[in-house]
Amino acid sequence: MLKQLNKLRQTALAEIQQSLSLDLLKKLETKYLGRKGELTKILRQVKDLSAEKRPQIGRLANKLKTELQQAIAQMTNKLTGQRPEGSVNLDPTTPGQKIPRGHLHPISQFIKQIEDVFGSMGFEVFGGSEVETEEYNFNLLNFPKNHPARDIQDTFYIQHPDQKIRTGGKQLLLRTQTSPMQIRIMEKKKKPPVRSIVLGRCFRHEATDAGHETTFYQCEGLVIDKKIRITDLIGILQTVLRSIFGKQAKIRVRPSYFPFVEPGLEVDMGCLICGGKGCPACKQKGWMEMLGAGMVHPNVLKNMAKLGGNQWNPQEYSGFAFGMGIERLAMLYYGVDDIRLFYSGDLKFLKQF
Ligand code: PHE
Repeated sequence: MLKQLNKLRQTALAEIQQSLSLDLLKKLETKYLGRKGELTKILRQVKDLSAEKRPQIGRLANKLKTELQQAIAQMTNKLTGQRPEGSVNLDPTTPGQKIPRGHLHPISQFIKQIEDVFGSMGFEVFGGSEVETEEYNFNLLNFPKNHPARDIQDTFYIQHPDQKIRTGGKQLLLRTQTSPMQIRIMEKKKKPPVRSIVLGRCFRHEATDAGHETTFYQCEGLVIDKKIRITDLIGILQTVLRSIFGKQAKIRVRPSYFPFVEPGLEVDMGCLICGGKGCPACKQKGWMEMLGAGMVHPNVLKNMAKLGGNQWNPQEYSGFAFGMGIERLAMLYYGVDDIRLFYSGDLKFLKQF
């Protein structure tokens, strides 16, 4: 039996070390260590041996069992490319672990695109402050105190204990629109010609739904020069919307009212989410309100000239302004049917962009 064990050891180890596939290794394991395996058979016979031979053969057979098990494990590691347990071998050619990288928020990506479109048409880009004074947000834009048009925009006013000292008693608020920048741009530039856009966040005390958020971005446009006409405004808007959405972008223009433009208009775009059939995002209308616009009101032109130091005659100039909701455009662009998703902080949503 001793001879038998030695022979088995030699052939079994040789076979294991030469095996070239996991499949073969499995077969060898069964062949030697399986229920009817060659070594298993010997181990079963040990109990029938004489009392003097039993301990010696038993020990050898058990040792061989461990040896074969180790050889098989080693070979398995080799074939699967795993490093043996406890080994500290370092393979410097193994590629490193990738560190996950984030990306820009879809709204930031979209804003960049808008900047590029207007930039290519020679528009200058401004940002402005998110906290405004009532004067710039309303009064200078022809919304005097108690004017009913203020009701269109439910406002977050800011109360500060040191208000008198800090702002000279001026009422502060979170800007409800980027339009106050129309005045600030003209104050800074002093005189026309001006061709600019403002991209920034605005805030309104809204009841939120699929199409409304309390915090949103606007893109405000302001062009002032001699002989600017309403057709220039419509032409620019059409060009911009087509360059973002392609030729299929359908727009319609409706008369509307904003105190700081005359005439005022609103531009809708055919809802690309439902293809014009009607869905919650477009309030079943098939059209989405995209922006307000119009020709700058003579009173506002006067305010602009005055704050810029009266270097130009507001009667000799004209201009247009528009304000578009960035999220609305982005919803159509990406096919997102609920505006609230953008700021929900849901990574499953954000990772799709
Ligand atoms: N500021 C207006 C709004 O937020 C939009 C607008 C901008 C309208 C410029 C006309 C001209 O509703």
